[in-house]
Amino acid sequence: MYEDLINEIEALTLDNEYDITILSNTSSSIYNKLDNLNWVGFYRLIDDNLYLSAFMGKPACIKIPVGKGVCGTCIKENKTIVVDNVHEFKGHIACDSASNSEICIPIYKNNILYGLLDIDSPIINRFNNIDKDYLEKIATIISTALGKTRYI
Ligand code: SME
Repeated sequence: MYEDLINEIEALTLDNEYDITILSNTSSSIYNKLDNLNWVGFYRLIDDNLYLSAFMGKPACIKIPVGKGVCGTCIKENKTIVVDNVHEFKGHIACDSASNSEICIPIYKNNILYGLLDIDSPIINRFNNIDKDYLEKIATIISTALGKTRYI
């Protein structure tokens, strides 16, 4: 399943002119290809806050300060955060009450921290180490592609 998803994301990230087309198509691809997800999207880091960008799923929080919630922690620590049960994560920001587990992965543009990929699941323990490895690979493909596109 992940090999198929990676092939699709490699194709979708070729020949884009703007960041937003990469973020839009890859969030849709992940949302539609993987099972048991209720939210997939990106937050952009601007100064000390994360701002909602392209996503699939219910409307979500529009601004998250660095250091707050799962997303803000991912940026503050500059590393992937896997949360097996969001109800046990102190400071978790609940955007969709259906979410029970979550993974946040940093995204870079020209090696500078750009934001993150956030994925929520209604299943507790949805993201194991295999998921983490493949999703980090996908985040790297997206980061590389963003090095060739313009903002918006
Ligand atoms: N749960 C996140 C907020 C973003 S939504 O899940 C889309 C957090 O705690 O930072």
